[in-house]
Amino acid sequence: VIDIRKLHAQSGLFTYDPGFLSTASNNSSITFIDGDEGILLYRGYPIEQLALHCDFIDVCYLLLQGELPMPEQKSEFDHAIKNHSMLHEQLVRFYSGFRRDAHPMAVMVGVVGALSAFYHDALNISDPVHREQSAFRLIAKLPTITAMAYKYNIGQPFVYPQNHLSYAENFLHMMFSVPTEKYEANPVIVRALDRILILHADHEQNASTSTVRLAGSSGANPFACVSAGISCLWGPAHGGANEACLRMLEEIGDVSRIDEFIQRAKNKEDNYRLMGFGHRVYKNMDPRAKLMRETCHEVLNELGLHNDRLFKLALQLEKIALEDDYFISRKLYPNVDFYSGIVQRALGIPTSMFTAIFAMARTVGWVAQWSEMVSDPDYKIGRPRQLYTGPVMRDIPISFSQK
Ligand code: ACO
Repeated sequence: VIDIRKLHAQSGLFTYDPGFLSTASNNSSITFIDGDEGILLYRGYPIEQLALHCDFIDVCYLLLQGELPMPEQKSEFDHAIKNHSMLHEQLVRFYSGFRRDAHPMAVMVGVVGALSAFYHDALNISDPVHREQSAFRLIAKLPTITAMAYKYNIGQPFVYPQNHLSYAENFLHMMFSVPTEKYEANPVIVRALDRILILHADHEQNASTSTVRLAGSSGANPFACVSAGISCLWGPAHGGANEACLRMLEEIGDVSRIDEFIQRAKNKEDNYRLMGFGHRVYKNMDPRAKLMRETCHEVLNELGLHNDRLFKLALQLEKIALEDDYFISRKLYPNVDFYSGIVQRALGIPTSMFTAIFAMARTVGWVAQWSEMVSDPDYKIGRPRQLYTGPVMRDIPISFSQK
């Protein structure tokens, strides 16, 4: 009998690293993270400086091109993106095929994937012009697709993009304008959304980005790859955490019940986790969480929501978790999702849209990473190995072989 496990062991160097805790899958010059020090850099620039001095379009340019844009470059880039913000009318009709109560992420997986059925003109991934064209289309269309998923959900007519507005402002317009009333954007709210987009734009080889790279490594087109990224992001351990976090706050309901939930999180039999706490890479406060916490206070002050029940509860939970030994010893700090959920709620964005907005922000990171990979002449199809744990080779039972 041949022991297949032995064969594996004999076939050269083999590492077993579930969850890829210590395995790098690629080189990248886009994003740097030092989780112990709480450092995040996009193309070498600290996230704190980018959040303070740049807008999302600057950051998109930076992630894609490697440098911050000069004013003329920015205006050309912005124009090129806006040129693609509309959806093909046939694609708009797609929405009516979904149930009204479908989760926006489910709709986005479908609609983004379907873009590849519309843009055959730019599916040659070895052509840099085609790659750039697809990148622009994805970055431009994601806000339109996301806002339409929301409008469809609530039964309102779609609102088309307006190209004189900024990226964040245009998204708010498509989400909240109605035929009888144009949405008047408060600059504090626009800035808060822009910051959410900047902070979520890229995060090196997280699960969804690795999914995009793995899908793209077979030569699949970028629309299909980004659709795969959206699917991965949806999970509650990843992008779905901000939605799960808000639902957790609703479930806790009142400050008096926090202790009960902290005890549940500590109880290993329960398998319960406090959503919005902990991070695979940051074992210090996530720098994005610090910035989002700042924005959270700014927005709640501006909107006079400091006495909001869930916000007070969130602040109390944050305080207890930061003082509790269980959380301190495991380095479980509130993460960016903890605060971004609260900010988005204050902005009037429904919980079911939180992860969709994360996907909209992360699209530029996915596309930049995909493009970096396929421009590398030495890239290979991703093909992880496994440790086989099934039966050794055996003959099928006689009763079957005599049939
Ligand atoms: N609540 C309670 N305990 C937790 C939590 C939590 N949120 N997160 C981790 N722990 C505990 C684990 O039970 C484990 O305890 P043990 O050592 O006693 O067994 C220890 O902390 C280490 O946990 P791991 O699962 O090994 O940590 P890992 O790095 O694999 O997980 C993750 C990171 C998935 C983010 C985890 O902390 C988690 O599930 N958090 C809640 C979901 C969340 O907020 N996700 C958002 C991530 S950020 C983003 O996607 C932008």
